[in-house]
Amino acid sequence: MARASVLMRVEEVREASAGQLRKAGPCVMVIFGGSGDLTRRKLMPSLFHLMQDGLLADDFAIIGVDREPQSDQDYQAAIHDAMVEFKPGGHELEEGDWEKFSPHLSHIKGELNDPGTYKKIGDRLGELGKGFGENGGHLFYLAIPPSLYPVVIEQLAASGIAPRVPDAATKPWVRVIIEKPFGRSLQSALDLNACVRKAFAEHQVYRIDHYLGKETVQNLLVLRFANSIFEPVWNRQHIQHVQITAAESVGVEHRARYYEEAGVVRDMFQNHLLQLLTLTAMEPPVTFSADAVRDEKVKVLKALRPTDKDEWHEFAVRGQYGPGTIDGQKVPGYREEEGVAPNSPTPTYAALRFMVDNWRWQGVPFYLRSAKRMPRRVTEIAITFREPPHLMFKSPKGLEPNVLAVRVQPKEAIALRFEVKLPGVDVKMLPVDMDFEYADAFGSSDHDAYETLLLDCMLGEATLFTRSDEVEAAWRAVDPLIDHWEHTAPAHFPNYAAGSWGPEIADAFIGRIGVKWRQPKG
Ligand code: BG6
Repeated sequence: MARASVLMRVEEVREASAGQLRKAGPCVMVIFGGSGDLTRRKLMPSLFHLMQDGLLADDFAIIGVDREPQSDQDYQAAIHDAMVEFKPGGHELEEGDWEKFSPHLSHIKGELNDPGTYKKIGDRLGELGKGFGENGGHLFYLAIPPSLYPVVIEQLAASGIAPRVPDAATKPWVRVIIEKPFGRSLQSALDLNACVRKAFAEHQVYRIDHYLGKETVQNLLVLRFANSIFEPVWNRQHIQHVQITAAESVGVEHRARYYEEAGVVRDMFQNHLLQLLTLTAMEPPVTFSADAVRDEKVKVLKALRPTDKDEWHEFAVRGQYGPGTIDGQKVPGYREEEGVAPNSPTPTYAALRFMVDNWRWQGVPFYLRSAKRMPRRVTEIAITFREPPHLMFKSPKGLEPNVLAVRVQPKEAIALRFEVKLPGVDVKMLPVDMDFEYADAFGSSDHDAYETLLLDCMLGEATLFTRSDEVEAAWRAVDPLIDHWEHTAPAHFPNYAAGSWGPEIADAFIGRIGVKWRQPKG
């Protein structure tokens, strides 16, 4: 019954907003790294699915750039294979739709440091003559190793094919999307921002963090700011602590080279987890506009309590997985993975405690945790409320606090835990979860975070992208820790078995405030 009423209202909402479909204008997207993993796995399937949903203009084109010598037909065939493998929207490739999509794809071979490559791109843009209609523009996507970002940015600027434009209203627009990691330290992020600033105005730059394209991450804003019941309790008077978990069951996979350099703090905290923290902690923005939202997020990052290196043990623990079992399968430890040094000090687990020094959050710890090879893949934000000041019921086992859990993935949900009376003649209490699962209410969503983000970029909507001051403030929050850990050898690595919830020291770490880590539902 409950489900039917939700579904009726979905139709009402859709009908009411018919005609307001956010559809991209004409666009040519130039992808540097046109045959790379990200392009094959995420970008092409997302663009294809956007086309299937009628959200791309007819006048769109995609140019893949890399050093592979291949004809347009070869390139289309390779992307076809990727689509079959990676299933746009989770569906088998619709060959009929592929026939419509593939003519929009072409390829340019070239070295990224060669001005000739940019000349070829400029010529191709001229030949295509696309992207110039109303709301049209050219989008340059850097899906390449980060060490090449400055090379491409400088070449783009020097070639004149991606000019700086004075304001967001200039037509045709020119935008550049820069993938994570944006720098590998505060200093390198500052340098990269300086390089970007020489070539482009800030409104042209879209720094991507795919977590911001996830449905529930955006829904956190709706939950907080479109409902009146949560905001009054969203503060230090009512909240005891916050746990943000991004657990992965996969190991380092085929990315050992990158991961050995990065480690979990650069890989997950500097970007995704701090984004979740800022959205949870920020003040209500005045409007849902890019700068209003990002101003509030930056304020949170600036309010994070700085930590002295001698105190890091108070604020952070690290771990690395050893061999173990996941889903009944034996899996190797991190140091046994291909490409990983046998004595690698790289952390694959970290738990950090952040304090937000402002009026709303004074004294409320935010525990952030992420790791590879945990028992299951799950990302959630859990807000634990304070206990009632006085308990009039006898409860030998004590009370479980109220918890509001926002599950980002895999099964998107919002769940509220509260105490109820067990039916019977005695007053006995037990905690229950009121669980709102998105798939139950709306059916499974088949769109990927990249679809939202690519469409937003084509529409010039930058709210879900990271601004330069934001990325720098996020680096400021983790840079001292990364530096400290890289200069102090980790003791007892590996210190958690694959398939466990992390090292024992992490339990003691959160145990200091008298609580336990949650074991979120997958
Ligand atoms: C990426 C990290 O940014 O996010 C990966 O580089 C990680 O190591 C991935 O696996 C997690 O993303 P998701 O969407 O699967 O939670």
